[in-house]
Amino acid sequence: MIKHTLDYDANAPCGESFGYSDHDSVLKPAPATHHVDFTILDVLQTTKAVRVPKVLRYFEKIRTTVMTDFQAEGFHLMQDLVVTGALPMSSAENVAKSLVALMDQFRRMSHLIRVAESSTLQARERLEELYTFLRSDLKTYQEIERKFLSGDSIVPTDAHPKNMAINAQGEILMFDFGRSIVADKQYSAPNFAAHIGLASVANCFEDPLFGAEYIATFVSAYNRFSSPDDQIEEATFVRYFMSELLHRGLSGRWLDKRFFSHATLQEVERAVHDLAIETFRPDEGGALATLGDLLNVLTDVSRAVGIKSYKGRRKTTQG
Ligand SMILES: Nc1ncnc2c1ncn2[C@@H]1O[C@H](COP(=O)(O)OP(=O)(O)OP(=O)(O)O)[C@@H](O)[C@H]1O
Ligand SMILES: [Mg+2]
Repeated sequence: MIKHTLDYDANAPCGESFGYSDHDSVLKPAPATHHVDFTILDVLQTTKAVRVPKVLRYFEKIRTTVMTDFQAEGFHLMQDLVVTGALPMSSAENVAKSLVALMDQFRRMSHLIRVAESSTLQARERLEELYTFLRSDLKTYQEIERKFLSGDSIVPTDAHPKNMAINAQGEILMFDFGRSIVADKQYSAPNFAAHIGLASVANCFEDPLFGAEYIATFVSAYNRFSSPDDQIEEATFVRYFMSELLHRGLSGRWLDKRFFSHATLQEVERAVHDLAIETFRPDEGGALATLGDLLNVLTDVSRAVGIKSYKGRRKTTQG
């Protein structure tokens, strides 16, 4: 497998590619992320804790890495299993274990990694939909953004089903680390879980309870494998989960079209929006702060979408 990252003039607008410029002319050239990806892959080659493709050759100047093809080794892209509803429940625990191990490896090799992207600019990209949603409650938005940026860990912000593979034995392989940034270590678990939440409200899993059960298993395993310092803070989990779900569910450019085989784009957008309303602006009481409450709403919305012609939670789940 050959991975190549395109080059472009860092002073030119990026068009459809990611890369943002701001007042300080901090343009984040995508090409530099290739070297971050290689550096991380290179260190992980020697560890057993996190399985990654084997790097065969690396050509730094032309941003090209030749690596083994995980499909040839019996792995399948996790996203393919997610969108077809074929994700095994047993993978929840293995993903948690691999993610905890990855965070641990990042900590150990933090002196070797020089991230390529600005945390602030990436936050702006990832939290853009949350900002729009919370424009009448910017205090909450700012709390979330500040918390995201307050961390000093290197976080694999792209560790989700599009960048993971799984084999018949349930082993997890991870790749695509180039966009890792310095951020809050609490971000990585809900960031992954939100992708399962999206598949759940898009009705990809036959059973509307599957998504919530998967996430509950994942979270409890994540805590079991983590040190006391790294336990999941539920209120923070709920907030990051929702920000990533809004990001994936409302910005069409990121969405895998296969998500709409079992629900329409409008149904998915409405479901994601309803979940955000329930999370941040419930009619009564405060915002949701526990995993249990979040998963109950996720299940209710997923069930309502499954019944078909989802018109919004308030109409379909009365009584
Ligand atoms: N080692 C590998 N073996 C087999 N397939 C791979 C391998 N690495 C990547 N792929 C495939 O190529 C796709 C893109 O790879 P990767 O995620 O590393 O690149 P990317 O440029 O960051 O792309 P994206 O923007 O889609 O995340 C993956 O989703 C996967 O399907
Ligand atoms: Mg990728």
